[in-house]
Amino acid sequence: MNVTVIGAGYVGLVTGVGLASVGHQVNCVDIDADRVAMIQRGEVPFYERDLPEMLQKVLSEGRFSATTDVESAILRSAITFIAVGTPTINGQQDLSAIKTATHTIGRILQQSDQYHTIVVKSTVLPKTSREVVYPILLEYLSKGQFGVCMNPEFLREGTAVNDFMQPDRIVIGGSDKRCVQMLTELYAPFQARIWYGSLEEVELVKYTSNALLATLISFSNEIGALCEATPNTDVRNVMQMLHMDQRLTPLIDNHYVSPEILTYLQSSFGYGGSCLPKDARALRAYGQSLDIPMHMMESVIQVNDERPNVMIRLAEHHLGDLRDKIITVLGLAFKNGTDDTRESPSLAVIDRLLVKGALVRGYDPRVKAIDYPEVSLFDTSENAIVGSDAVMICVNHYEFVRIKWSELAPKMRNPLLIDGRRLVLDVDKPMSANLTYVQIGKMPSQADD
Ligand code: UGA
Repeated sequence: MNVTVIGAGYVGLVTGVGLASVGHQVNCVDIDADRVAMIQRGEVPFYERDLPEMLQKVLSEGRFSATTDVESAILRSAITFIAVGTPTINGQQDLSAIKTATHTIGRILQQSDQYHTIVVKSTVLPKTSREVVYPILLEYLSKGQFGVCMNPEFLREGTAVNDFMQPDRIVIGGSDKRCVQMLTELYAPFQARIWYGSLEEVELVKYTSNALLATLISFSNEIGALCEATPNTDVRNVMQMLHMDQRLTPLIDNHYVSPEILTYLQSSFGYGGSCLPKDARALRAYGQSLDIPMHMMESVIQVNDERPNVMIRLAEHHLGDLRDKIITVLGLAFKNGTDDTRESPSLAVIDRLLVKGALVRGYDPRVKAIDYPEVSLFDTSENAIVGSDAVMICVNHYEFVRIKWSELAPKMRNPLLIDGRRLVLDVDKPMSANLTYVQIGKMPSQADD
């Protein structure tokens, strides 16, 4: 099928390249000419494992192209995806990019007499597809000329290509049977369960999925905070015993199966990224707009906003006043496997350190710039660590597991390591390197045991 994807951002590019790789003809449209030129050269504007190779393959096979020419792209297609951003501004979802894209599609399709399916891929609140997108198209087109589908993505940064190619689910809502049928055919090459719902149900499940993940993390973090204040407890142990419940870890064919969801039942110092925080807030605001109090989301967000404080508390417990203390933050991205720093919990820690007057250093294997002129960025973890009063591990990069603490600890001004990710440091046990090693999820006084 011939497909247009509007928006060559994270979701749009993965979707376009993924669809091209199973044989569809895809044009990915973006207004940013530099970005388009870059993609046309086979370069991906952000870090995502496996995507550059896949992009280069579909480009060379002639099944994918990036363009700024939205008109000829849409007129050649039967299906157009809208994959533009939906940021939250002053607590409200900003639909201006979606509206602009929809007006453009409507205007262009006036030149066509073919039925066209418009698919909303962007994350939008319930009622947006039916009450915003559909009526805009009706300003230009007649009823039987088009259909609107809602089809959210469930990609995780770092594993997005695999998530797209082997989806756990494809969910589709549509304004009529014909557009739903076309989208079903488009996804036929994927071995995935397809679930159908109303436009509003499909819009809602996207938020519901991310809200559940955020809830599990905040729940685990609240238990983590309890352990940090309760002698003889370690949240890791508590959670491990929780995971053994057969409803969480079932015994199948004599093997215990640990579902991936359990990774969200580990204590951390907060969730981040471009999705979980934004979606939790948007769901809360949506509920409140309907006069539903949203107590759960309120608490989930509150726990998350407070959680980065644990890193500061641990540093103060060992160093006292943090003013003029050199603190090195290892890991700046919002998680492993990405260079994305949007709403990164590491930056939340840095904000708090700066307020306390600390001198902050940063290092991340993938992040080479952040919008913090006060933070000195280093090119290696070793260079960042030497001379520090404390090191904070904020992302579970494998590289940090391999740091040679026996060599580096003596070169620190004060050998303190605060592990915010509970990395298993078994390569070079920090304890044997005269290093004070503290971890979140335990009482600070017993943390070095
Ligand atoms: C998330 C969802 O996992 C995807 O299913 C969804 O499609 C995507 O948002 C989206 O809406 O586009 P992603 O933002 O890539 O994907 O991140 P996750 O891997 O879910 O991690 C989110 C945050 O939670 C990270 O900061 C991570 O470090 C943190 N986290 C995760 C924890 O703090 N503790 C955990 O146990 C697990």
